Amino acid sequence: MSSKTKAGTKTMISAFAGAIVLSFSASAFSEDAVAVKVDAVAAKKLARKDSCLRCHHVSKKKEGPSYQSIAYKYKGKSDAADTLVKHITSGEDRVKLSDGHEEMHKVTRTTDVEQVRNLVNWILAQ
Ligand code: HEC
Repeated sequence: MSSKTKAGTKTMISAFAGAIVLSFSASAFSEDAVAVKVDAVAAKKLARKDSCLRCHHVSKKKEGPSYQSIAYKYKGKSDAADTLVKHITSGEDRVKLSDGHEEMHKVTRTTDVEQVRNLVNWILAQ
């Protein structure tokens, strides 16, 4: 006489019971948290190849503004990357150089959009 016993009520320990979601201060999720992944090595390589560094230094003003000051200028602007991609690809922006003459701002010779974006994001991360 065998009688199958029904599976008794199991006591379930809810995994959620112990999960306390801590909320961090809002600052932890400000701009920095949205930070885009930047391949700094590739960015610098491209900047050197396109001779951007002839006129731009990360922290010092040369012929052009430092990348730090550009990053500062565009801090918090949501369209910053798009604006700068255009700046270094369109060939529409004129710049005035220290000797007084004006010329088209240099455009990158790279046609790889991802590489150009990476360079811009790197500049904006300075
Ligand atoms: C012949 C010198 C020269 C070269 C080469 C050069 N730049 Fe510039 N760049 C300038 C000058 C001058 C300005 C400032 C323009 C202004 O503020 O009117 C500038 C401005 C910029 C800005 C800021 C634009 C803005 O809207 O504030 C970025 C970004 C930039 N350059 C990136 C680059 C990159 C990337 C390269 C290489 C592909 C490069 N530059 C090559 C001279 C140069």
